[in-house]
Amino acid sequence: VTTAAVVPAAGRGERLGPDGPPKALRPVGGVPLLLHTVAALTAAGSVGLVVVAAPGERLAEVRALLSGTGATVVAGGASRQASVGACLAALPDDVDVVLVHDAARPFAPPAFIDSVAAAVRAGADAVLPVLPIVDTVKEVHGDLVTGTVDRGALRAAQTPQGFRRAVLAAAHAAAGTVDATDDAGLVEALGRPVTVIEGHPEAFKVTRPVDLLLAEALLARREGADGQRG
Ligand code: C5P
Repeated sequence: VTTAAVVPAAGRGERLGPDGPPKALRPVGGVPLLLHTVAALTAAGSVGLVVVAAPGERLAEVRALLSGTGATVVAGGASRQASVGACLAALPDDVDVVLVHDAARPFAPPAFIDSVAAAVRAGADAVLPVLPIVDTVKEVHGDLVTGTVDRGALRAAQTPQGFRRAVLAAAHAAAGTVDATDDAGLVEALGRPVTVIEGHPEAFKVTRPVDLLLAEALLARREGADGQRG
């Protein structure tokens, strides 16, 4: 029995700004985002193998970047879902648990990644880490507020999301061209149960320029802590 982590990393990251390399290759602490992400996954004891979907035109570059990590690199697709699908097609037969983790979440702690895998091993078909919504949520049409949503039952979905492999494969096969923004959504569409666990603040997604500042600060704090230990 093996747990694999698949990493969609083929997005452009336009919300980070129109210029510059694809998001996964933007530097944090001088190191491409993707290398931090893969390092976190390989540091998680539960993860036996990592498969990354890279932008097609950057395949050789990403293979060189990850050559020391043991990760397998495949060409991604036009959507996040297609990129995850390309990774799933590259998994060996003995993989029975799959974690799907955004390249754009470089600092998910290894123990947190392991806790998602453990929840699948404990019997869940699909495991979704979630956090409460901190902001008040409004419904808006045009420039007018049409309602305030009760946020009590709302949660923000993170990755890694964990799946029994057969369930994730069935969900992707059934999805066709529906473009879901996460994999748990495809399992929900199948009518299969998705179990939540508590998310982790450090598993935040680097989306906007301010997130890069947060990422730099978190990395500096971790490196400072390492320096004090060493
Ligand atoms: O755009 P967003 O931040 O929601 O993307 C989530 C993840 O999906 C990112 O890690 C991104 O690289 C990946 N992605 C992909 N292929 C695409 C679009 C997004 O692998 N075509």
